[in-house]
Amino acid sequence: TAPLRLGIAGLGTVGIGVVKIIRRQAALLQDRAGRPVVITAVSARSKDKDRGVDLSDYAWEDDPVALAKRDDIDVFVELMGGHEGPAKDACEAAIATGKDIVTANKALLAHHGQELALAAEEAGVRIRYEAAVAGGIPIIKSLLEGLAGNEITRVMGVMNGTCNYILTQMQATGRGYNALFEECAELGYLEADPNLDVGGIDAGHKLSILSSIAFGTQVNFDAVELEGIQRIQLEDIEHAAEMGFRIKLLGVAQMTGRGLEQRMSPCLVPASSPLGQLEGGTNMVVVEGDAVEQVVLRGPGAGEGPTASAVMGDVMDIARGISIPTFGQPASTLRPVTGAKAAKP
Ligand code: NAP
Ligand code: HSE
Repeated sequence: TAPLRLGIAGLGTVGIGVVKIIRRQAALLQDRAGRPVVITAVSARSKDKDRGVDLSDYAWEDDPVALAKRDDIDVFVELMGGHEGPAKDACEAAIATGKDIVTANKALLAHHGQELALAAEEAGVRIRYEAAVAGGIPIIKSLLEGLAGNEITRVMGVMNGTCNYILTQMQATGRGYNALFEECAELGYLEADPNLDVGGIDAGHKLSILSSIAFGTQVNFDAVELEGIQRIQLEDIEHAAEMGFRIKLLGVAQMTGRGLEQRMSPCLVPASSPLGQLEGGTNMVVVEGDAVEQVVLRGPGAGEGPTASAVMGDVMDIARGISIPTFGQPASTLRPVTGAKAAKP
């Protein structure tokens, strides 16, 4: 059977994680997909950087757009980040040349999800993005597939590993923000612009994506009410603990009489609750539906292995020929968000 040929743009934390899985698990992937899964070509900013992995078997492209257009790839795997510039240009080029896309880029989908989904549908290609929300937790697949028979009433959770790591470590160790921030960099949790993490923006991107699948609405990040964790002091955390609470950056999306409500902000949660006990870079997403009642998913929210695991889940779906509309229903049938608040800082 013909191999599934990948072109990978971005060889940082996530991209190298994906390369490692494909090299380490080639036989297992082939057995499960019924065909080999191979890397044909790669791209990053610097060709000469030592990435700790031998990349000499793969063709190199300096330009991710050229990579996306290559006729020896079937899937364009976008792991660069950023919602304008090369990531968007290369995804558009991939769609225009008939490639499926796998991406971990929540910023791109939060800002351009609807237009990309429409373009992909028109071109007959797939966009998959499991790694974009909650790292290694298969929340996108759960909403798109396992929970597809439910009317979803609420989606909520902790969706940024960096913020959860900083908040839990401040509470547990009394250490300061800056030292913990450095640790997040070493763990590979941070966005290229870490203000996206601590400003709640990254988590807001994720919430806007989940909302679209859950409520059949067009992704609308501008409608997310946002507040980050930058103003949380050690004293706040200590006072919360004295009263039996923890501070978490919590996202909630629910349909109300006024339309879709999407909020991402620091909240007090009982210390003894599952959310209160969520530690380190762990994420938790709670989905409530009319039939299932409540499902709780918990797992690593960031870092090389967990994020690459999610990327590979999408690659395997494509290798197996699984096809689901980007946000669970044809993009032209997604409704605009009504009752939206443009409250971003
Ligand atoms: P990263 O470590 O900063 O890696 C980014 C990669 O993209 C680097 O290899 C960089 O090249 C390459 N790149 C950047 N701009 C480029 C350009 N203009 N042309 C070609 N290559 C370019 O980032 P990451 O942590 O792997 O994240 C990648 C994506 O995954 C982002 O969308 C991020 O939001 C998402 N994500 C990350 C995590 C995580 O835990 N890290 C989790 C979920 C989702 P050089 O190496 O040569 O500089
Ligand atoms: N910077 C993100 C986080 C990476 O800390 O959760 C995972 O999306």
